[in-house]
Amino acid sequence: SERTLVLVKPDGVRRGVVGEVISRIERKGLKLVALELQHLSRETAEAHYAEHVERPFFGELVEFITSAPLVAMVVEGPNAIKAFRQLAGATNPVEAATGSIRGDFALEIGENIVHGSDSPDSAAREIKIFFPELG
Ligand code: GTP
Ligand code: MG
Repeated sequence: SERTLVLVKPDGVRRGVVGEVISRIERKGLKLVALELQHLSRETAEAHYAEHVERPFFGELVEFITSAPLVAMVVEGPNAIKAFRQLAGATNPVEAATGSIRGDFALEIGENIVHGSDSPDSAAREIKIFFPELG
């Protein structure tokens, strides 16, 4: 079994789709291990998105993710990392399949509702940032 960090980003909370995202995770057969509403500091946001520091949209990304509370979760199950990224759909909602979270609820890449870790190393690093008590 595997763990992944899932975020319902501020746009998803504002849009009222937190329950919808959790429902899709549960229907897939994945389990919630931790769940918390968090309002990120700039420092935490920059640590989470460190891999994107050189990208032109980094400032915008940090501004957005710190703009309002998000819902952070640790989700567990066999192949949880790939399973959740499949539920989320392509990064750009314009390319995300209908039936995926981004395909169904989002229009723009900058506001694509959810985040999911992209590898076991990322998951371990990100879970430590959002839920240090889980180790
Ligand atoms: P996450 O699960 O959120 O990490 O998405 P991802 O792994 O599918 O995409 P990636 O890690 O490459 O990018 C991280 C986030 O940066 C994306 O989810 C987008 O919200 C944002 N992002 C990526 N490209 C752009 C862009 O060109 N403009 C803006 N404003 N945001 C972008
Ligand atoms: Mg990513």
